[in-house]
Amino acid sequence: MKLPSSSATNLNKKDMRHMITMNDFTRKEMDDMLELMSLLKEARRDNAVPHLFKNKSVAMIFEAGSTRTRVSFETAATLLDGHALFLSPRDIHLGGKESIDDTARVLSRMCDIIMARTNDGDTTEALTKMSTVPVINGLDCVYHPTQMLADIFTMMEHMPEGKELSDLTVAFMGDATDVCRSLLLTCTKYGMNFKQIGPKKYQMQEKWLKVADKNCAETGATYEITDDVSKVSECDVIYGDSFYWTTQLEEKEERLAAFMPDYVITKALMENAAPGAILMHCLPANDKEEVTREALEGTNSVALDQAENRLTAQMAILVYFTHKFNNSPSEETLAHHKNKIDGFLNNL
Ligand code: CP
Repeated sequence: MKLPSSSATNLNKKDMRHMITMNDFTRKEMDDMLELMSLLKEARRDNAVPHLFKNKSVAMIFEAGSTRTRVSFETAATLLDGHALFLSPRDIHLGGKESIDDTARVLSRMCDIIMARTNDGDTTEALTKMSTVPVINGLDCVYHPTQMLADIFTMMEHMPEGKELSDLTVAFMGDATDVCRSLLLTCTKYGMNFKQIGPKKYQMQEKWLKVADKNCAETGATYEITDDVSKVSECDVIYGDSFYWTTQLEEKEERLAAFMPDYVITKALMENAAPGAILMHCLPANDKEEVTREALEGTNSVALDQAENRLTAQMAILVYFTHKFNNSPSEETLAHHKNKIDGFLNNL
């Protein structure tokens, strides 16, 4: 038996990038991803998505639950003719019987990209340290970059006539969540104006404001952190998120008392926003807490378009982060291996 001279693995990829926060990317790189989203959305509309992930796999690690992130990545891989593996802690040994380092190294040998939703940023960072394929952060309680791509794209789709992204003021209602933090950094990177409107105790930490300051100095963006709900009158986008995460259930009553009713997105609050303002929500939404059903179903709500754009974003991400490593065989190479294997099988 003659063994191949080198292993068919995903090692030593030059120019490989991970996606942990959108803030790691230049404006040009972000624009390229958005342009790719636009092309892929158009192709999906015509039921003609090119098979740009053919023979590739995405390992999807989910330490926490998900509807949109899971379904969008899995469907994106299918549309692009690749494969997605759903890996919950019940299915793999991550961090239990097997170290995160070893998990990252083994998945890198078999899959082309790793998407991870983890319960903390340390796990995601540990995956990036040892992975030899791109790691995509599918939410780690610090950042939610894949949500950001869908959000900026949705804002562009629903931009008031004659306006540009840099003309928009985005208000995030409530807690300084991972989505709030990601929006602060992404909006300021895009030269937009951002406000977090929420009670003082739950406002954005200084550490992230310093990063936003740097973005603002480069792009001319502004931000404001305030507890004054009347500031929605200056905002073109009113953005909602849960008032507590699944790891904060013991704080639920205290949080609800702090946020409700002032920071709930209602029809009346939307009427006080800038003319033509849209309602966005990363979902899942609790229509008894941070947003009313009436507001969520209002004509100015784009929450479902935003959710659908998660699929558009994930298609672009799978392609953007792997296209340089395509190694499609020629017809000649395919025929060579097929003949060799057929010859072996015919002699069994
Ligand atoms: N917005 C979002 O990430 O939704 P899921 O938790 O359902 O993935």
